[in-house]
Amino acid sequence: MSGIVRLAINGASGRMGRALQELLRDDARFELAVCINASSEWESAPQLDAVIDFSTPPGFDAALAYCHGHRVALVSGTTGLDARQRSALDAAGVDIPVLHAANFSLGVAVLARALRAAAAALPDWDLEILEAHHARKVDAPSGTALALGRVAAAARGQDFDAVAMRARDGQVGSRPPGAIGFASVRAGDIVGEHFAILATTGERLELSHRATDRTIFARGALAAAAWLAGQPPGAYSLDDVLAE
Ligand SMILES: NC(=O)c1ccc[n+]([C@@H]2O[C@H](COP(=O)([O-])OP(=O)(O)OC[C@H]3O[C@@H](n4cnc5c(N)ncnc54)[C@H](OP(=O)(O)O)[C@@H]3O)[C@@H](O)[C@H]2O)c1
Repeated sequence: MSGIVRLAINGASGRMGRALQELLRDDARFELAVCINASSEWESAPQLDAVIDFSTPPGFDAALAYCHGHRVALVSGTTGLDARQRSALDAAGVDIPVLHAANFSLGVAVLARALRAAAAALPDWDLEILEAHHARKVDAPSGTALALGRVAAAARGQDFDAVAMRARDGQVGSRPPGAIGFASVRAGDIVGEHFAILATTGERLELSHRATDRTIFARGALAAAAWLAGQPPGAYSLDDVLAE
C-alpha cells in the first residue's frame, strides 16, 4: 500500500493496545484513526484501512464483523479463539485480507519452523509443550503453545484435537503414544516463554523461546498491518509477512 494506513486498535486500553500506541507515536506508516475498547461502538468508527485486534474472543467477534462488513483488513493477535471463530476468520478471508497470529514474535515464528522439522524427523518421540506467562493471563494453554502443537501434529500427519492432552490432574494413567502434552505456568510479570521438549529413551531435544519485552509483539503486529493493508483478500499468516 502506498499511502498512510488509517488504523483502529481494538483493545486499545489493554497492555498490548498501550504498547501499540507507544510505537505509533513515531511510526509514519500509520494514522491512528480510532481506539476501541469493551464499551466502544464500532459503528461510529471513521473510514479505515486496517484494524489491529488484541482484545478478547468477544472483542475479536465484533472486530471481525466490522471489518468484514466494511471491507477493512484485520490483523488479530487475540488468543483463546474457538473453532467457530477460526472458521469465521478463514471465511472472511474470501472477502478481506485477514491475518491471525497467536504470537507476533519473529523468534517464535522460527521456533515453529524448527519444531515442524523436529516433529517430522522424530515422529515417535514424546512431545511436550510448556509455556509460562504473567499472572493476569486468562486463557491456558497459551494460544502460542496450541499453535505450536498444531504445527507439530500437522508435521506428523496427526489430528491435533485427537492427540492434544491439554491438562493432567490425578490418576491420568501413563502417557499415550503419539500424545502432545501441554503444561502452563502463571506467575508474576512473565511476558511469555515457550518450550518444546522431544524425548525418547536416552536422549532429549529442547527448543525454547523467551520474550522479555511485549514491544516485540506490537512491532510484529504493526509490520503485519502495514503489509496486509496492501494485500488482496485472503487468510494470511505471519510466515507470509516474513517471506517478503
Ligand atoms: N499474538 C500475540 O503476539 C500476543 C501477545 C500478547 C498478548 N496477546 C493476546 O492479546 C489479547 C490481549 O492481551 P492484553 O495483555 O493486551 O490484555 P488486556 O491488558 O487484558 O487488555 C484487553 C483489552 O481488550 C479490551 N476488550 C475486552 N472486551 C472487549 C470487547 N468486547 N471489544 C473490544 N475490546 C474489548 C479491554 O478493554 P476494557 O479496558 O474496556 O475492558 C482491553 O483494552 C489476549 O488474548 C492475549 O493473549 C497476543
